[in-house]
Amino acid sequence: MVSCTTTPNEVVQAPEIAGSHYVGNQACAVCHREIVLRFPASAHARLYSARSAMPGQTGCESCHGPGSEHIRTGGQPNLIVNPGKKPDSCLECHLDVQGEFSLPQHHPVPEGFMNCVQCHDPHGEDIFKAAGGLAMARQNENCAACHQDQTRPFIFEHEAMHEGCTVCHNPHGSINEKLLVEDDPNLCLRCHAQVQGPSVPAGHIYIGTIDHTAFLQIGTCWTSGCHTAVHGSNIDIRLRY
Ligand code: HEC
Ligand code: HEC
Ligand code: HEC
Ligand code: HEC
Ligand code: HEC
Ligand code: HEC
Ligand code: HEC
Repeated sequence: MVSCTTTPNEVVQAPEIAGSHYVGNQACAVCHREIVLRFPASAHARLYSARSAMPGQTGCESCHGPGSEHIRTGGQPNLIVNPGKKPDSCLECHLDVQGEFSLPQHHPVPEGFMNCVQCHDPHGEDIFKAAGGLAMARQNENCAACHQDQTRPFIFEHEAMHEGCTVCHNPHGSINEKLLVEDDPNLCLRCHAQVQGPSVPAGHIYIGTIDHTAFLQIGTCWTSGCHTAVHGSNIDIRLRY
């Protein structure tokens, strides 16, 4: 299959279905009215096609492939692409995301145990799949559907959680264990600045008022036994347990 590349908002090539041609969004509305009505608010409704064989309003078929045979047969499911079953058509455009899922640590989408649609809503206004709320809260809520240990309420919250899971994790994939965006103390030092200045002895690492030099020789902030409860704690204000 020819690979689809996009410059912003431009579709070059969508999935192919033998014998089918493009019919445009309104043709789908006859049977899938609710989706067609919801769709204009979606980020993907802004896509247009300059060079492919698709007519003007082509949003649906950029993911689902050309629809004429599906329609002629009254809705044969095997004559339309469903990226909810296999996300290949998403990845044809989102090559960078495909790259992230190829990294050694990733959500098991390539293995077929998960799909984009468990985190993204393809048709709606909100591409992040969860109930209402602010953007970050919605993302966290989405993760909470599967990761309750990290998202339950804690007596001592780690305020970093308000910034969303993605300040520390890449949800698609990472070279680091646990999908972390960094595998060393820099993960934490982005917010907990290392103290500089004349009061700090040469070669020492101060965070807050505490000399962390010896601790950081044992491991990272979270593996050296000091801040293991990075997501929150019911026992320890320093997020140790
Ligand atoms: C004549 C009515 C009709 C039209 C028009 C129609 N569909 Fe369908 N479509 C159906 C029916 C019926 C099903 C359910 C098939 C089933 O589950 O057996 C379906 C199912 C689907 C599915 C799910 C397939 C799966 O894997 O289960 C997708 C995706 C889809 N349609 C997309 C579209 C798109 C995109 C268009 C416009 C290009 C479109 N349909 C136009 C009747 C239609
Ligand atoms: C960004 C890609 C994308 C676009 C654009 C898109 N869809 Fe879908 N569609 C999907 C995915 C992914 C699923 C599977 C959803 C799931 O399994 O939860 C799906 C599922 C469907 C289904 C099956 C029923 C359902 O709700 O699961 C129908 C019908 C459908 N789409 C029609 C349409 C129509 C009509 C349009 C245009 C108005 C459209 N889609 C635009 C990706 C897309
Ligand atoms: C035909 C090419 C194409 C296909 C197929 C496609 N996308 Fe996109 N997608 C785009 C483009 C281009 C944008 C940027 C749209 C914009 O910013 O206006 C985008 C944006 C997104 C965004 C970010 C939206 C935002 O508001 O930041 C997500 C998430 C996304 N797509 C997921 C998916 C998923 C999941 C699928 C498959 C179900 C899919 N895409 C299929 C081209 C595509
Ligand atoms: C585990 C949940 C999860 C899964 C599974 C997932 N995503 Fe995402 N995706 C996210 C989150 C969260 C963001 C926002 C990232 C951020 O804000 O840094 C995102 C952002 C995006 C974006 C916009 C920014 C970017 O990274 O380019 C695109 C496009 C996208 N996802 C496509 C996809 C596609 C395609 C799939 C399936 C092959 C997929 N995602 C699967 C959670 C997920
Ligand atoms: C639909 C369920 C589901 C959703 C939603 C989901 N995950 Fe996951 N997550 C999984 C599965 C399954 C694994 C793989 C577990 C394994 O390999 O043992 C995983 C693994 C992880 C891991 C790595 C754990 C490890 O031991 O390596 C992290 C971190 C993670 N997810 C964070 C997130 C974040 C952040 C979000 C929201 C953006 C999210 N997940 C959304 C199901 C989900
Ligand atoms: C301040 C950074 C940070 C934030 C924010 C964060 N995490 Fe983590 N997360 C980590 C670190 C560090 C680890 C590795 C240590 C561990 O296993 O607990 C981890 C581990 C995980 C694991 C694997 C746990 C295990 O036992 O293997 C999951 C799942 C996870 N995080 C989910 C989430 C989710 C969901 C969110 C958002 C609600 C989130 N994280 C927010 C830093 C963070
Ligand atoms: C997005 C910013 C951000 C990131 C990244 C972050 N934190 Fe935090 N953290 C905060 C904020 C804000 C507070 C509350 C204010 C404070 O105590 O500095 C806090 C509080 C803490 C506390 C409690 C301090 C106290 O004395 O009560 C500990 C311990 C902590 N963080 C450890 C970590 C560790 C370990 C990491 C890396 C895995 C990390 N933080 C990453 C923002 C962040």
